[in-house]
Amino acid sequence: MPKLRKYAILYALLPLLLDVFGAVPASGQAPSTPNPQLASKEINARVEALLKKMTLEEKIGQTVQYSAGFATGPSASNLTYDELVAKGQVGSMLNVVGAERTNRYQHIAMEKSRLHIPILFGLDVIHGHHTTFPVPLAVAASWDPDAAETVARVAAEEARADGIAWVFSPMVDIARDPRWGRIIESNGEDPYLSSALARAWVKGYQQGDLSKPDSVAACVKHFAAYGAVIAGRDYNAVDMSELTLRQVYLKPYRAAVDAGVATVMTSFNSINGVPATANPLTLTQILRKEWHFDGFVVSDWGAVSELKNHSIGDAATVARKALEAGTDMDMEGDLYGTEIAAQVRSGKIPESVVDEAVRRILRVKFALGLFDHPYANVGPAYTPTPERREAARKVADETMVLLKNDPVEGIGALLPLTAKAKKVALIGPMADDALDLLGAWTVAGNPKDVITLKSALSDRLGDKMLYAPGCGLLSGDEEKTLKSVTFTGAAKTVDETLPDDEKTIGEAVETARKSDIAILALGESTNWMEGEAASRVHLGFTGNQEKLLEAVVATGKPVILVVLAGRPLQLKWASEHVPAILEGWSPGIEAGPAVADVLFGDVNPSGKLPSSFPRAVGQEPLYYAQTPTGRPARGDLSHMPRDAAEKFVSRYMDEQNSALFPFGWGLSYTRFSYTKPTVDRSEVPVREVVDNHNPAVTVSVDVRNTGSVAGSEVVQLYLRNTEASVEQPLRELKGFKRVTLAPGETRRVTFPLGFDELNFYGADLKKTVEATTYDIWLGGSSLAAAETSFKTVE
Ligand code: NOJ
Repeated sequence: MPKLRKYAILYALLPLLLDVFGAVPASGQAPSTPNPQLASKEINARVEALLKKMTLEEKIGQTVQYSAGFATGPSASNLTYDELVAKGQVGSMLNVVGAERTNRYQHIAMEKSRLHIPILFGLDVIHGHHTTFPVPLAVAASWDPDAAETVARVAAEEARADGIAWVFSPMVDIARDPRWGRIIESNGEDPYLSSALARAWVKGYQQGDLSKPDSVAACVKHFAAYGAVIAGRDYNAVDMSELTLRQVYLKPYRAAVDAGVATVMTSFNSINGVPATANPLTLTQILRKEWHFDGFVVSDWGAVSELKNHSIGDAATVARKALEAGTDMDMEGDLYGTEIAAQVRSGKIPESVVDEAVRRILRVKFALGLFDHPYANVGPAYTPTPERREAARKVADETMVLLKNDPVEGIGALLPLTAKAKKVALIGPMADDALDLLGAWTVAGNPKDVITLKSALSDRLGDKMLYAPGCGLLSGDEEKTLKSVTFTGAAKTVDETLPDDEKTIGEAVETARKSDIAILALGESTNWMEGEAASRVHLGFTGNQEKLLEAVVATGKPVILVVLAGRPLQLKWASEHVPAILEGWSPGIEAGPAVADVLFGDVNPSGKLPSSFPRAVGQEPLYYAQTPTGRPARGDLSHMPRDAAEKFVSRYMDEQNSALFPFGWGLSYTRFSYTKPTVDRSEVPVREVVDNHNPAVTVSVDVRNTGSVAGSEVVQLYLRNTEASVEQPLRELKGFKRVTLAPGETRRVTFPLGFDELNFYGADLKKTVEATTYDIWLGGSSLAAAETSFKTVE
């Protein structure tokens, strides 16, 4: 038997050995108790004692979750909850917010129900609770796990004060297709970056101790692979090899589980023909058996009931399949409440299956201390304190990505803005749109807390600033239709007057003409065009904004474009005609100050793209970690083929293959140089990597700030396993570090590489390391050019 195979087998046996001997697990192995609190003897003894007292109906009650207050999905149930709560038949509620409202239900549960089991209140706390931070994709652009932790920490404190002990975050679905509106909630396209951020979000929410009064249980979602829905259409099916599932898509969920996340939410999609909400492979085999997850799994909204639409059975069957597969709680579907009891009584479902789900749910309730402290303290209404604003601004500052800053003849680089511009025109529908700057998907965020670009820039520029909205975010017709939409079905009076974009674009052009420089703030309607159920096939600016941009550029005035959107937009025309482009995402309440910080150079931009920006929508799904092809296109073929070598290769006839702005991309007001990287060992025995000698190899590079201002660089390490038995990506991110350097300063940055970074999934779906050559690149984006390599040997 070849040695490698032996290592793979030994490696596969490790979990068993570890379980027996209770050893510290090797890197890459699931800890046998990823959350020691949930596995603790004390908590489990309390769970068992309670479980013994529960009737079947009370047990099933714990698996039922209802939405009260408002709906975050189609058709909320219309039940009177008080009575069910009093009977102990509601284990959890969502969308009940505020100390008074949560306490009201909690009093019923604690005082009227027979066993006084507290309700667990859950909510979508996506990018902050009251204090609204940049959207998650923007936070990912900071490449700063500390930033993610800050957002989660502040959110947890505020949520807990509102009676919410459980947040439906982080969302770590790998998103490689910006047509999918939910990319905004994700960490982008890369498993390594997303995993690092997943750990940070969980740490911020849970603090490694659920019992702290300001900790909340996090919920990693949507399990699994929801980001890979076919054609980027929300709720669509997912079809991918199990190898890709494990190697790419599952990694960030696993990182969250290893970080101790208390709960997991299923996804709406099917995976290779099996719906995720009733999927024994992902929910039982992988999550429980391989990852040793001890918390509970909640379905997504109505996802248990929607299994009927997946054609896997009638109501009773789908409820049984979901529960047996490992979905412990039914969010808003009501099928567990109605379909489980009879099947247990008839012997179709063993009661032990219900017991197990209840155990998992009660463990989290005990760990959170809800039995001892069920109520929220009713405090004063929230106001964004200066400290919280400061935190939101600091995070937003780090998320800004300078996409382009080409010199303009006679002026030089437009950014940072200098005092030379006597008059500055601020133009565009995003400039003063508090609601859309806040970003999609916030329940408690308040647009009134948002400082807009108009307000922040006019504070700095006073009467040097002229302003024109230019046009709407949506076209007049779109606005009119959307205004008539309500999710509750209630009739609405629609204002029939359509905004006249032609007129306002004309006014904006006049405003630009009167100025020395124009700043265009454009984007997409975050509330209508981004987030859940907001897939798009066109990824340009919405409404007539592109026309506005073209008209202002045509004046010949120098233009700075600030893009404010939660997904990568198609910026091809802009990239060819606008010298300076700043990606500002959806920045939250400190939108204006953060954008101004970067425009005026108080903050040197340091964000890097977590997602590739396409040249054309037809390239999607577009991501940097492509696997090899037998006919690679050499160089960027932007022209028609001139010979067979340019024709018969993997390319498009009408566009380049590469991203317009690649993963990891982001400029600075200074420049960084990289020396040739070094490795401390040119050859490493495979055995040492597998045995997790840590690190197996260390890569170092000197990074120097060669410009005249201080700046932060995200140093990125990419590698390629060149001779693996299963094709590996041409580049994969396996390390990053944020460093801040004064002008002229040099820093040595080192990256330890061990089993975690060097393994891949073999054809047998097991992690393995083989004898091979790893090519390594270091730099400030996925185009990193400073190169070295090392070998693993038998
Ligand atoms: C549906 C969404 O997919 C999920 O992310 C969210 O947490 C639930 N609804 C609850 O609102």
